[in-house]
Amino acid sequence: MQPTPVLCGIGTSLPDNVVTNDDLAAYLDTSDEWIRSRTGIRERRVVRPGTATGDLSLAAAQGALKSSGSASVDLVVLATTTPDHRCPATAPDVATRLGLVGVPAWDLSAVCSGFVYGLACAASFVRAGAARRVLVIGADTYSTITDPGDRATRAVFGDGAGAVVIRAGEPGEPGALGPVSLGSDGSLRDAILVAAGGSRQPLGGDGAARDGRYFAMRGKTVFRHAVERMTEAAERVRAEAGWSGTDVDCLVAHQANLRIVQAVAARLGVPAERCALTIERLGNTAAASIPLTLADAACSGRLRTGSRVLLTAFGGGATWGAAALTWPDVTPVAA
Ligand code: UT7
Repeated sequence: MQPTPVLCGIGTSLPDNVVTNDDLAAYLDTSDEWIRSRTGIRERRVVRPGTATGDLSLAAAQGALKSSGSASVDLVVLATTTPDHRCPATAPDVATRLGLVGVPAWDLSAVCSGFVYGLACAASFVRAGAARRVLVIGADTYSTITDPGDRATRAVFGDGAGAVVIRAGEPGEPGALGPVSLGSDGSLRDAILVAAGGSRQPLGGDGAARDGRYFAMRGKTVFRHAVERMTEAAERVRAEAGWSGTDVDCLVAHQANLRIVQAVAARLGVPAERCALTIERLGNTAAASIPLTLADAACSGRLRTGSRVLLTAFGGGATWGAAALTWPDVTPVAA
């Protein structure tokens, strides 16, 4: 019989540096009131100079491995838009720092949907019998790619990392991953964009290229598509799992904006009190937002062994994805 992918460990890592809305308002034309009412965010964590995505990834991964009860895995997938370097990938370095020399490791680029894409990847390797234990990390440091002078993006994003271990198990076990649905639409490639630094617009000495080096987002367009695609993908996996809206014990949606999470929940018929939320304290942590929110929900008792969990995400590309799982008996480990 085909093995079933089962979540068996979860870890997190957050920078200790808390940046409040008032801190931002001290140097940007913004206010606590604007940010809270438009996004639901009160504060976010931001790395100090010298800390890279790989450092947060390492700490979150160590937590996930400890939480899973074993330090060994067959595969490492790191979802990020903010790798330590343009080249090579960050995952092999993280794997080596974990003592996993020789283990295949790669970065996955699906922006804020990256963690769900990573889960799909891990699930496929496990189902195919090609791996018994897979480490999936979602980590980002958007403070390193957003323009310090851009109130729109600076207010929204925060830094952080979350990781899970997926092992081969049996159907029906708590932690079992159910259906997964992924999608993309490249016609939205300009809605979320770091224009310069790739092969289309290499970073040279000219001013034009430098202008495009920061993360830019067409917020309203992204908002609209995020609600539609996150809902559609979640609907698909929920139907495939045979769950109704009220069967979902916990909706863990990518924490893009409180209003997006609320709109998705309302369309899915999931009661608002069943939405796991970290956006108020962490902002939008991109690929890290789902594992950070899962760990938070488990620590607060919102997730219990056997809880039916629906994950859904939307990100640049555009990409989107959703997954269903039941919650295992695990204790998250925070770095
Ligand atoms: O994680 C990947 C997916 N990302 C998302 O899903 C993000 C989706 N989008 C959003 O969450 C929202 O669109 C934002 C929070 C980014 C922006 O909120 P909005 O209500 O859509 O505002 P807007 O972009 O339409 O801007 C309205 C006004 C503009 O001023 P003008 O041009 O009307 O004078 C902005 O410059 O609000 C201004 N603005 C701000 N004002 C004060 C934008 N950011 C700020 C700010 N403080 N931080």
